[in-house]
This record gives sequence, structure tokens and C-alpha cells, in this order.
Amino acid sequence: MTEFELLLDLHLPAERQGPGGDAETKLALQLAGLMSDGPGSSESAVSVRNDSGAGAKGDTRALKIADIGCGTGASTMILAEQLNAEITAVDFLPEFLQELEKRAKARKVEHKIRTLESSMDALPFQEKEFDMIWSEGAIYNMGFEAGISAWKSFLKPGGKLVVSEITWFGENRPEELDRHWKSEYPEIAVASAKFQALERNGFRPLGYFKLPDSCWLDNYYGPMEKRFDAFLEKHDRSEDALAIVEAERNEISLYRKYSEHFGYGVYIAQKI
Ligand SMILES: C[S@@+](CC[C@H](N)C(=O)[O-])C[C@H]1O[C@@H](n2cnc3c(N)ncnc32)[C@H](O)[C@@H]1O
Repeated sequence: MTEFELLLDLHLPAERQGPGGDAETKLALQLAGLMSDGPGSSESAVSVRNDSGAGAKGDTRALKIADIGCGTGASTMILAEQLNAEITAVDFLPEFLQELEKRAKARKVEHKIRTLESSMDALPFQEKEFDMIWSEGAIYNMGFEAGISAWKSFLKPGGKLVVSEITWFGENRPEELDRHWKSEYPEIAVASAKFQALERNGFRPLGYFKLPDSCWLDNYYGPMEKRFDAFLEKHDRSEDALAIVEAERNEISLYRKYSEHFGYGVYIAQKI
């Protein structure tokens, strides 16, 4: 097995492929002004007016949403359950998309979702096609500013953008941590710098919150740690499998040690 296949094997069975949580996805939806009417709402129109047109109370037109870098669809499922929406779930890994389709069927929301295998930097979308672009823990693959500037054209004027992005929680931090993230992702910055990037690119900030530790430890790292032993046994404790687990363990211990200094910020903005 290649390293890539091993990584896929470790992450495919997971509920999510990055830090996040159902409650946090719903909070971001609220801050975007698009939370649905409540119980039994999966078929209801969203309750708050969306400036891009769709979503006014009584407006039965489905919101057009792209969930970019969706993985196996943890956020896609919540969007589909909460909104009257047509969701395009995009990832460049077909294995994740097949799993997402299975999960959508099991949750009876498959009629609201189409999957699209595409790289996020070469999306085959039309200009002004979407009411909302959603991306949890994925925009770093093309870089925050490159991502928001490229994806903006796919949004209708007044359309909403929700992205989570690795963020410094203040300007002072330990040297070890600074070195690590500057080599992994030089675009890591404080939230105010991300808002400036949004404003530079024609977005009006609507909201921000920090993902709580539970989104990392209970929802992502904890379940991953429980899979390590079975994963290593399955792959005969090969050098490559051991290296993958070691790299994940290092990342987890860095988070446990320094989570007061960095984490994911969730940015909610509107195309002007
Ligand atoms: C950290 S995971 C987050 C997945 C999901 N949003 C979640 O929160 O569970 C990042 C996702 O981005 C996808 N990805 C990475 N590079 C990509 C690219 N260039 N184009 C499309 N998807 C990409 C990966 O396959 C993976 O599913």
C-alpha cells in the first residue's frame, strides 16, 4: 500500500476528517442567518432572509450550497438536515464521496446532495451559482486567501461564506509551536488578519467563533487514537503505517500542549 492509501484507510471510517462538531456547524448556520425552523424542519424553508434571495420565509426555492473539501460529509449531513437546499459536496477523493453517499442514504437526505469529484482549485462552477459556500477544515489545501478569492466568483451577490481555518489566538506563542506551524502552513495568522483578507477580497464579516477543544479531542483526535491499534495490526506494523501513526501522535500532542494558542476559527462572511 502507498502512503496515500494508508492515510485513506486510517481516515475513511471516521465520522469526520478534521476538527468540528454538529453543534458548531449549526452555530455557524445561525450566524449566517440561515438556521431552519426547528423540529421536523428538514423540508421547511429556512427562516431568516438570505440577501441573495433564497431563504425568505415562505420562499420555497432551495438554497444552492457547495460544501468544499467535504470528506465523508459530517457538515454536509447537517446542512442537508437543517436546510431546504441543493448541496454540491466536493472532494478530490472519490472514496470519501462514495462513503458520503452511503451516509446520506442512511440519514435519508440523499435527494438533497450531489457529489462532485474535483480539486478545489479547479471547480467547474458557474459565476454566481451559489447562495452559500461552506468549507470545514479544508481551505488550507489551497490557502485561505487564494481560496476565498477564487470561490467568491461562484457566490451570488449577498451570498454567504462559512470556512474554518487554523488560527493563532493571540500574537504571543511558544517558539516550538510557531516554528512548527510556520513550516506546515505559513498562512496561519490571527483572526483579525483573516478578517482583513476577507475584506480585501470583497466580503463583509458576519461572525466568528473558535472551535472548542471538544471538536478536536472528542470528535476528531480521540476517535482517531482509538483506531491506531487496529490500523497498525491490519498493516502488520509496517514502517509506513508506523510513520503515519507517529506523525498523527505528534500533531495530537502539540494540540494537547498548546491548544490555548491555536485552533480553528470559524469565519462567517457575506459577499458584498
Ligand atoms: C481535514 S479534511 C476535512 C473534511 C471535512 N470537511 C470534515 O470536516 O470532516 C480536508 C478534506 O479536503 C480534501 N481535499 C484536500 N485537498 C483537496 C483539493 N485540492 N481539492 C478538493 N478536496 C481536497 C480532503 O480529501 C479532505 O476530505
